[in-house]
Amino acid sequence: MERKITIVLMVSFLLLSCGKEENEIISFSQDIAPFLENTCTACHYGGRQEPNLHEEVSYNQLTEGGYVTPGKANQSAIVIQLENGHPENIDIPSNQIKILKEWINQGADNN
Ligand code: HEC
Repeated sequence: MERKITIVLMVSFLLLSCGKEENEIISFSQDIAPFLENTCTACHYGGRQEPNLHEEVSYNQLTEGGYVTPGKANQSAIVIQLENGHPENIDIPSNQIKILKEWINQGADNN
């Protein structure tokens, strides 16, 4: 009996902890824009290389420029670029690409 309870508790704990991670909402202003500003604007700023990825304009640049397809990270131009060898061979932490993809799959909100 005691063993059964232990198992039930363990399973509930696992389910709860999985659910939490999946529901974590990625914020564009906190998780994405600063990363783009720090990692990309040496080249991607107004007038030099499209899209302009400065913090104040990056959301509109990405959505209006068609670089993100809300809900479909793997079909988004920005993800395809970064995963399939971005031209200048920049070094982007894979964890950061994962966060970017999650944000797109969550609907690419300006949140
Ligand atoms: C060292 C300079 C440099 C950095 C840093 C850089 N890029 Fe680029 N990026 C380029 C160049 C140059 C091109 C254009 C390549 C071409 O036209 O073939 C490009 C192209 C792109 C494109 C395709 C643009 C289009 O209109 O097709 C995207 C999307 C992109 N970069 C995203 C990013 C992101 C996101 C970052 C930061 C994580 C980043 N880049 C960092 C130089 C850079």
